[in-house]
Amino acid sequence: MKAPSRYPISVSLLHWLLAIALIGNLVIGWLLDDREGLLALHKSIGIAILALALIRLTNRLRVRDQLPPSVNKTGTAAYFIEGMVHRLLYVLMLAAPLLGWLKTNAAGHAASFFGLFSLPALLSKNRELSHWLGDLHAMAAYGLAALVGLHLLGALAHRLLKGQNIVPRILPLPRRPLPKARRLAD
Ligand code: HEM
Ligand code: HEM
Repeated sequence: MKAPSRYPISVSLLHWLLAIALIGNLVIGWLLDDREGLLALHKSIGIAILALALIRLTNRLRVRDQLPPSVNKTGTAAYFIEGMVHRLLYVLMLAAPLLGWLKTNAAGHAASFFGLFSLPALLSKNRELSHWLGDLHAMAAYGLAALVGLHLLGALAHRLLKGQNIVPRILPLPRRPLPKARRLAD
């Protein structure tokens, strides 16, 4: 059977939904120092990201036999780097919100989702731990931002160095051209 040339639509949709949410929440995170009022929004979007990232990972395992082969040749440095960057992106898109949740609990607050419900408290109040978890949360978030930068450089390198546009591989487009609309009888 011919190998697929595009990611399944479920993978593409979750990729772009999470790309928007993650980049948005990184920006909100950077603005937190000046605008305290954004913290509740930041936590709520972060909780949604945690749920979506878990769904994304489960879905990726479900469709693992339908994924297109890498654009890089097996065994090359590019192949290895691509695999590492993708794996680390998954690790950090889960670790960053988890650490934010833990930091919030250690600071003595509940991780609330738009005031509708709160995640269970995993830790009791502990000032020292709260500072430490805050630092780890920031490190995970900045690590994620750096990896997204590398990920974009990878896509750009394919474009500029190899003349390959790989973006359509991950666009949620129909799998095959739609059949021509039947002409109505004159
Ligand atoms: C992937 C999702 C998330 C990203 C990308 C993210 C990113 C960030 C960033 C960039 C900062 C500023 C760090 C700094 O410069 O010190 C920050 C701060 C913070 N985030 Fe998140 N965050 C996410 C999820 C969450 C979640 C789920 C929670 C809690 C439920 C949370 C709670 C906080 C808190 C309390 C701060 C202030 C930390 C402090 O004052 O030390 N974040 N976040
Ligand atoms: C927070 C932002 C992003 C994250 C976390 C992310 C993560 C990922 C991951 C993990 C994959 C591997 C497929 C999978 O397992 O789902 C992937 C594929 C891909 N991403 Fe992103 N991505 C982000 C943003 C972007 C943006 C802005 C672009 C625009 C150029 C992009 C272009 C691609 C392409 C072209 C692929 C397919 C690579 C291939 O040919 O196999 N991504 N992304």
